Amino acid sequence: MQFLLVSLGALAATVGAHALGRFARAINSTALSNDTTYDFIIAGGGIAGLTVADRLAEDPDVSVLVIEYGPFDQREDGVMIPGAYFPVPYLWLPLSSTPQKALGGAVYGVPCGRVVGGGSVVNALFFHRSGAEDYNAWDQLGATGWSWNNLLAYFRKSETFNRPDAAYTASHNITWDDSVHGFKGPVQASLAPYDYPGSANFYNGARSLGMRPSKDPNNGDGTGIFRLVRTVDPKTQTRNSARINHYDRVTESRPNYHILPNTAVKRIIFEGTTAVGVEYINRTTSVKSMVRAKKEVIVSAGSVHSPQILQLSGIGPAPLLKSLGIKPVVDLPGVGQNLQDHLVLAVNYNYTNNLFPNGGSLQSNTTYATEQRALYDTQQPSAYDLTATTGNLMIALPLRNYTSKTSPIISLAQSQDPASLLGTGNPDPTVLSGYKKQRKLIISHLNTEAAAIGSISWNTGPATSIYMTRPLSRGSVTINSTSILSDPLIDFGALSDPTDLELLLAIYLKNRELMATKDMAVLGPIETSPAPGIEDIEVIRENLKSALTPSNAHMCCTNAMMRREDGGVVDKEGRVYGTRGLSVVDASVWPIVVSSGPMPSVYAGAEKAADLIKRRYGLL
Ligand SMILES: Cc1cc2nc3c(=O)[nH]c(=O)nc-3n(C[C@H](O)[C@H](O)[C@H](O)COP(=O)(O)OP(=O)(O)OC[C@H]3O[C@@H](n4cnc5c(N)ncnc54)[C@H](O)[C@@H]3O)c2cc1C
Ligand SMILES: *[C@@H]1O[C@H](CO)[C@@H](O)[C@H](O)[C@H]1NC(C)=O
Ligand SMILES: *[C@@H]1O[C@H](CO)[C@@H](O)[C@H](O)[C@H]1NC(C)=O
Ligand SMILES: *[C@@H]1O[C@H](CO)[C@@H](O)[C@H](O)[C@H]1NC(C)=O
Ligand SMILES: *[C@@H]1O[C@H](CO)[C@@H](O)[C@H](O)[C@H]1NC(C)=O
Ligand SMILES: *[C@@H]1O[C@H](CO)[C@@H](O)[C@H](O)[C@H]1NC(C)=O
Ligand SMILES: *[C@@H]1O[C@H](CO)[C@@H](O)[C@H](O)[C@H]1NC(C)=O
Ligand SMILES: *[C@@H]1O[C@H](CO)[C@@H](O)[C@H](O)[C@H]1NC(C)=O
Ligand SMILES: *[C@@H]1O[C@H](CO)[C@@H](O)[C@H](O)[C@H]1NC(C)=O
Repeated sequence: MQFLLVSLGALAATVGAHALGRFARAINSTALSNDTTYDFIIAGGGIAGLTVADRLAEDPDVSVLVIEYGPFDQREDGVMIPGAYFPVPYLWLPLSSTPQKALGGAVYGVPCGRVVGGGSVVNALFFHRSGAEDYNAWDQLGATGWSWNNLLAYFRKSETFNRPDAAYTASHNITWDDSVHGFKGPVQASLAPYDYPGSANFYNGARSLGMRPSKDPNNGDGTGIFRLVRTVDPKTQTRNSARINHYDRVTESRPNYHILPNTAVKRIIFEGTTAVGVEYINRTTSVKSMVRAKKEVIVSAGSVHSPQILQLSGIGPAPLLKSLGIKPVVDLPGVGQNLQDHLVLAVNYNYTNNLFPNGGSLQSNTTYATEQRALYDTQQPSAYDLTATTGNLMIALPLRNYTSKTSPIISLAQSQDPASLLGTGNPDPTVLSGYKKQRKLIISHLNTEAAAIGSISWNTGPATSIYMTRPLSRGSVTINSTSILSDPLIDFGALSDPTDLELLLAIYLKNRELMATKDMAVLGPIETSPAPGIEDIEVIRENLKSALTPSNAHMCCTNAMMRREDGGVVDKEGRVYGTRGLSVVDASVWPIVVSSGPMPSVYAGAEKAADLIKRRYGLL
């Protein structure tokens, strides 16, 4: 069957409704021909892609096609039940980094979702905005209009915050601020109604060190001790993914919203510098086809794959493109540069006197696991309400609260030569210019009490996770093949700026102090890794280097929304410089990584982008 989807006027609407049927639906390529035209084509159906698709399709006269590399999930327990969390079937595997120079040439996995809903189907569910200064930095770096104050309306629009019940709130020291939350948005957010007794030890130990409880971790102050908010629907205690909140939720009312799964977008098709459609590949048969976009092609393939698609389409550093025989459409040196992520350090303790139950009990005690599953299955508070192996509390602090050595750390950052830190040390001048501006802001953040540099989360069992969330190092994503089915080279550039190791070390040492407080010491913690019993700082540094992971699956910033002369790729509306009809909407457009998990910021950014897109086509 062939049909042409047109969007304007009553006639078109009738034709559209007839040809499309009554519901939004998953389609296969037999429904399309090379001449099929949608108003908008969205390359990548992850968090940003589905958010934008849902919003654009609110107008019944607008047709939207999302092309997604992965399948629909099957609502497996590993997807839906937080305590049964098992993302492996929907991860992009294998996907690896290049050998990391500052980490002895080690190669690391690159965690990405590959499924309708993207990261929201496979992620650990944590739902926290960052501090206001991070979004304000975006605004200062060229993403004008993306400050905290500008985004707050979109954070609220995106979510339904489900308040915990009064008794649980009181007994668990929970506070929040209604004024920063939304109560009618698509994304369901909640706090787990279950907790382990060790949380109180962690909380009180942290308090005894002068750490302050956060009033609300989502109110623009990204520091303090707080409870993990999760994208869990409290009515069912199941994952609320973008597939659920921006597709399933609206299928009955959106015949103009199609998703083509299991299909790779290979490249954007241009007429001159105007994007007019995409070429895609059926992943089973490798058959190539194309589909046309009347208004805009929106690239939402995530921070690893959006720059890959742009580069394969001739948008990127001209020398790279030419070396692979790709004719440049626009020479944009920033495409694929500026890769950022959070460092992760697992710190393990043996607790000789721990409380039961704890964040390791589901894994270590089958009797307990069976009991808890029965509670979960009968809708009672259960350890299965928490993402497996995680606890409820997190501590996020500015540098000065982690260490008294702020001055030497800041001096170390200031003493670096930015040019020598990027790639092979001969960066494009525009990219270098943007990097220098970023460093200035980050160094100023290291010197305030507002900006968290990282966090500590103890699961109340064997695992403590330390995150360093304000990196000065930068990596890159670069194609090494003209095939979309080959992975790009992913270089995290981890620790290319040695300051990052000092920041991680400061958090690690503060965690040792925390473990030594009276409240934690009664549990008998004995460090088993990464530096058990070691006091020599130089040895600790080396051990941290071998134990850390350069990615917390928070990749971003590879198509930065900055000025073109600063290595930017998209303008403040997300439009790719030098093109027409082409934009990017996902975490790849952030200028710098935020200090929290990315999810709520991706949802909110996509809400804002959807409004910008609607406005430029007179749809708002
Ligand atoms: C294991 C894991 C745990 C995480 N935990 C958390 C957490 O607890 N809290 C938090 O805030 N964040 C977490 N994140 C990060 C968060 O999920 C991501 O930052 C977020 O999903 C990014 O959104 P996005 O729209 O930019 O990209 P994605 O959601 O990754 O979507 C991109 C989509 O594009 C598709 N795609 C790629 N290439 C192509 C192509 N060529 N053609 C068609 N489609 C393509 C992909 O398959 C994917 O579905 C986690 C991520 C992972 C992987
Ligand atoms: C890929 O091609 C096969 C064979 O034609 C077809 O059955 C399948 O539906 C196609 N996949 C998609 C997602 O269109
Ligand atoms: C492809 O979609 C058509 C409807 O458009 C449907 O009849 C057919 O069964 C689908 N094919 C596959 C392989 O899913
Ligand atoms: C809550 O705070 C009180 C007072 O600081 C403390 O005694 C109690 O242990 C805390 N409980 C939890 C669960 O954090
Ligand atoms: C950081 O330390 C200062 C000084 O002790 C204190 O006032 C502030 O509350 C601390 N911040 C946090 C988030 O704990
Ligand atoms: C459709 O377009 C693809 C290229 O994108 C081309 O390979 C294929 O031959 C075209 N099919 C038809 C029927 O024209
Ligand atoms: C861990 O703790 C147990 C007691 O709970 C003890 O028997 C064991 O030796 C400890 N192991 C290590 C490595 O410290
Ligand atoms: C295992 O769980 C059961 C049920 O909750 C509990 O009674 C038992 O004490 C636990 N065993 C250990 C070793 O903690
Ligand atoms: C890049 O691709 C070439 C050709 O396919 C291959 O020989 C080379 O090993 C690749 N380089 C890396 C670093 O993967």
